[in-house]
Amino acid sequence: MMVFSKWSICLAILFLGCFVCSSWSVRAHENKDRSAAETATERTRDTVRMLDDVYKTAVVLITTHYVNDEDDLPAGTAAIALFDAVNKKGWHEVRLLDASGEPINDANVAQDKFEREGVAKLKSGKNWHETIVTEKGKRHLRVVTPIPVVLEKCTMCHENYKEFKQGEPIGAISYKIPIR
Ligand code: HEC
Repeated sequence: MMVFSKWSICLAILFLGCFVCSSWSVRAHENKDRSAAETATERTRDTVRMLDDVYKTAVVLITTHYVNDEDDLPAGTAAIALFDAVNKKGWHEVRLLDASGEPINDANVAQDKFEREGVAKLKSGKNWHETIVTEKGKRHLRVVTPIPVVLEKCTMCHENYKEFKQGEPIGAISYKIPIR
């Protein structure tokens, strides 16, 4: 029968203790990293919700108060100019998209798989489509949100919106925001 010395038993217990402790601490760190990442993602979602409300409220207010005939600067054009400025300054990426199938400007159609999927999901009734992408080692939240026909006035220039039911999306806003 093999006899273990007192010391070898002590060493074995010590080794086992170290192993258990280190794997606990690795797991605790992993959990902490995961929850920090989730908190940062949720904070970024909140920023998108805030921006989405601000942009849409601005478009509706501009259209209500300043757009009276077809020659006035449309809120869509103003929004695109604003989004270009925001993109150039590097705050985040934001684009105005068509979801009606008949855009006034062909440049405003979904450009990649994520945006195409997003527009399809919004048309099927969802009001939020998101994914997380990593670019140059940095995480970004991408979201697509719907724009319904909010005002009768919209149809002044977008004749085709008349065929859509109340609340149905005719457009979308696409965001890409760094998760910090
Ligand atoms: C005075 C005319 C006019 C009115 C009113 C108007 N738009 Fe537009 N809209 C435009 C023009 C022109 C563009 C193309 C802008 C560009 O790409 O530079 C556009 C673009 C858009 C786009 C991007 C897709 C596309 O068709 O190119 C959406 C979405 C949109 N408008 C939604 C709306 C909504 C919603 C309303 C009502 C709140 C509205 N528009 C009112 C003229 C108008």
